[in-house]
Amino acid sequence: MGDLPTPPESFIAPTGPLATFIKGHKPQSSTSKSLPTFYRNLEESLDVKRASENFYSTLPQDTTSVDFCSGDVMSMGRSAAHRDEFRAELSRHPNFALGTTSSRLMDGNYAYIMEAEAAIAKFHGAEAGLFQGSGFEANLAIWATIPRHGDVILWDSLVHASTHDGIRQSLAMDRVAFPHSDVDVFRETLRDILETRPLVRQGKRCVLVAVESIYSMDGDICPLQELVDAANEVFQGPELEGLVQFVVDEAHSVGFIGPEGKGLVCELGLEGEIAVVMHSFGKALGASGAIILGNKIIRDTVINFGRAVMFSTAPTFPFVAAVKSGYKVLATKNKDREHVHEMSTLFFSLLTSHPLWAKAKSTGILNVPLAENWENRVVNTHLLAILTRPKSFWWMYYHLLSASYRTFPVTYPVVPPGQSRLRVIIHAHNTEEQVRGFVDAIYAWVKEMMDIEEEGGVTKAAKEVYDWMKEECVDGFGIVRAKRKRDVDDV
Ligand SMILES: Cc1ncc(COP(=O)(O)O)c(C=O)c1O
Repeated sequence: MGDLPTPPESFIAPTGPLATFIKGHKPQSSTSKSLPTFYRNLEESLDVKRASENFYSTLPQDTTSVDFCSGDVMSMGRSAAHRDEFRAELSRHPNFALGTTSSRLMDGNYAYIMEAEAAIAKFHGAEAGLFQGSGFEANLAIWATIPRHGDVILWDSLVHASTHDGIRQSLAMDRVAFPHSDVDVFRETLRDILETRPLVRQGKRCVLVAVESIYSMDGDICPLQELVDAANEVFQGPELEGLVQFVVDEAHSVGFIGPEGKGLVCELGLEGEIAVVMHSFGKALGASGAIILGNKIIRDTVINFGRAVMFSTAPTFPFVAAVKSGYKVLATKNKDREHVHEMSTLFFSLLTSHPLWAKAKSTGILNVPLAENWENRVVNTHLLAILTRPKSFWWMYYHLLSASYRTFPVTYPVVPPGQSRLRVIIHAHNTEEQVRGFVDAIYAWVKEMMDIEEEGGVTKAAKEVYDWMKEECVDGFGIVRAKRKRDVDDV
């Protein structure tokens, strides 16, 4: 982390990033009156977001608090080994071009990118691969190009926004969601599709299933083998075989799950059965971009129908070199993978063995969905969600920040209303001491909440933030409710 600038103020200080974030929520309707209509209309739209507490700001990176937030699960983004390998890769190709100047279909398809794609595809047991600028773009490309007219798209209700956006662009208008990871409903839905879609029954159209190997907001692992088995069970026989095909988004599992971090599909040995796999390089790999894996027909389809391939400049040499060196270093990271598993297990063990756990859970002060049955799970992932009552969600966030633990607050529309949560990511760089400190901080907050339930008021960290907000005349984040409660108390 040595190269990153240290912000002058701590996250919770009056001029720090939290203050900037909260200040960003100040409605602009009064100040924007004098602006030209064009800008006033934009501010009006932004005010709608401000009012619902989901105005986004690009805050400076915080390096002062403990990271339970970033996507750098394998600590590759800060890894000196990755940087060294990247530099070595550059020096092996001293005459590399910084730009590519044209699309892959024009003059931008250089040998190095083709070799890297082929090597990564081989590593994951696929026939072919195609780089994309990001995982988001990859999902857009997959769903906009691969389903054909008349196909049915069947998607898990918790798939990522990029998959939703891709599906919206798809030629296949028949789109059905199934409840998250519910294998029984999935099987029933397939039966229903078979019964009600004659073209599918006649073997002329297909069903494409969208799933993620680790779900980005809940951190649970897809029951992929069970879904594949259910599909094979319903679509049996020579006429139906192969009509159900899966697209697996491995954004959160590459680097973390499977032999050498190859992902869930490889871990389950399903390379031969899954039509399309998407690996994003922006998280565990510590780089950026993504690859779409499949056979040659899949690659040709994305190239021929994918507008971003046709109309966009090819990924550059440094981009590909960062990915390639990331893979090289990742292969040596078995110990780090074990460490993340151990830290995740430690988190759940400390959380659920705490004397306040049962009461915190039953009163709804603390809700960690993945804590249910964690001992019997084969893999506890690096990703989990901590929920509380909607009213006190921001209080928990402020409290953890003021104790120097950085999590990511996720609110509507990323998750449904009422399901705001702190998204927690456990990394290879998180120590046992940090995990213990984090759980202690959670329970210090729980204890405060339990006392408040009996005596009234707000938590200490929330009060600090609210005092500052009042000085700045910023509403929201519970302050209105807190004021009202005090008003009621005063009467
Ligand atoms: C499940 C999932 N798929 C795709 C993406 C997009 O990947 P990228 O960040 O590489 O654009 C994300 C990003 O958070 C994700 O969580």
